[in-house]
Amino acid sequence: MNSMCYYPTYEEMLYPEKIDNSCREKAIKALKKDELNSINLFNITWKDKSNKVRKLVLPKELTGVNANILVLLGNDFPSGSHKVGPAYATLIESYLDGNMIPGKHTLLAPSTGNFGIGAAYICKLMGYDSIVVMPENVSNERHERIKKYGGKLSLTPPSESDVIFTLEKTYELAKNNSNYRVLAQFEFFSNYRFHRYVTGNSAIEAAKNIGNGKIACFCSAPGSGGTLAAGDEIKKVFSQCQVTAVEPFECSTLSNGRRGQHRIEGIGDKMCTLIHNVLNTDYIACIKEKEAMLGFKILHDYGKALEEVGVSSKLAQYMKNIFGPSGICNILGAIKMAKYLNLGSDDNVVTIATDGFDRYGSVLKKLNKEFKEDNNSTVKQWIKDVFLNQDINEIYDFRSSEAKERLYKQKEKDWLHFGHSKEYLDSMRTMNFWDREYVKINDYNEKIKKFRNKHMI
Ligand SMILES: Cc1ncc(COP(=O)(O)O)c(C=O)c1O
Repeated sequence: MNSMCYYPTYEEMLYPEKIDNSCREKAIKALKKDELNSINLFNITWKDKSNKVRKLVLPKELTGVNANILVLLGNDFPSGSHKVGPAYATLIESYLDGNMIPGKHTLLAPSTGNFGIGAAYICKLMGYDSIVVMPENVSNERHERIKKYGGKLSLTPPSESDVIFTLEKTYELAKNNSNYRVLAQFEFFSNYRFHRYVTGNSAIEAAKNIGNGKIACFCSAPGSGGTLAAGDEIKKVFSQCQVTAVEPFECSTLSNGRRGQHRIEGIGDKMCTLIHNVLNTDYIACIKEKEAMLGFKILHDYGKALEEVGVSSKLAQYMKNIFGPSGICNILGAIKMAKYLNLGSDDNVVTIATDGFDRYGSVLKKLNKEFKEDNNSTVKQWIKDVFLNQDINEIYDFRSSEAKERLYKQKEKDWLHFGHSKEYLDSMRTMNFWDREYVKINDYNEKIKKFRNKHMI
């Protein structure tokens, strides 16, 4: 890689057209053909090669609502999900701050999968060893992908607190080895910065020529809560936007503290993460995990039935591989909120598909035993039940300060335990805290540029 092509700035991740031309061209060529070439760091963006946000406006024959439901598509990020963005942001910031040194430090990535995949991938590209700490019951494809990128696995048992166990195990490992450093996605504001700036502004751009060009509602099911930070930026531009966190009904930790098992990998991590800005969470919508799993199967397996309800055959074919279960959960949350908020054909609801089908073949196989169709009318009924007749139950209003208090208490329960002080947690109760974290992007953009100039040949 030539010196200009070292590391992208936040600005270049949002505006890849600002990347040096020859780097950009090389990066675009490498995306599908040379995955392990570090030039792929310049492919960490929501934009395609013509600088358009990768998105899909869902057909109304599927959503059954007048509002436009826009889904930002994450599957074409390097490593197959947008989680590579926070992994890179966290590593580059820590590297420039002198806290993570290649060849010296091994990086630990606590994760439910995609952050681990992204972290193992980024470590491979930037010359670090990595260990991904994650619950053992995530899809086998995730394990394989991490190993393919040279990451080691440290698995924790499935349980009602599996992600908490994962964090505890991470810190135990780090305590016992001074050369370990933690890529702490649930705690480091690099994750917040990446999504508020890169995802938030990409969402705003994506909505520009659709409906009234504004965003009435942004829906994201939190794992680390990073993606939800896009809502902070959207609200700065469209103050009326209702930011909605989506949860599995069976694991509604944010809504009411429930920590049940569910199968929607990557979300419902059973905590209010440190980087979750409670101030901007307006609603929480719960989706039954069975509906998300069945919706995922419908879009992958039943193109013909989708055509019969009016979806074009081209679109039915395209939708087959671009969603995982969490993307469907987000879509169902978006449909629910469009109905609940009574949104019309001028209004836009934006949501996210973090990854695509490629890591869920084994998950689908298991679903095939659970959902058996006898004929096409069964499938058409499923489409109605899951998408078209999505109800408006289990939506909680979190706009009042009393309701937010529940989330603050949850955060205390989750994070005092890991050594963060009450004063620190309390300092997050004003928007100043979040804006101060956000503007650090300018410093990191400058640091990256300085680093590149220094290494110019
Ligand atoms: C498949 C999937 N969906 C959604 C999410 C949630 O994204 P975030 O961690 O930004 O909240 C994750 C996070 O790992 C994920 O892997």
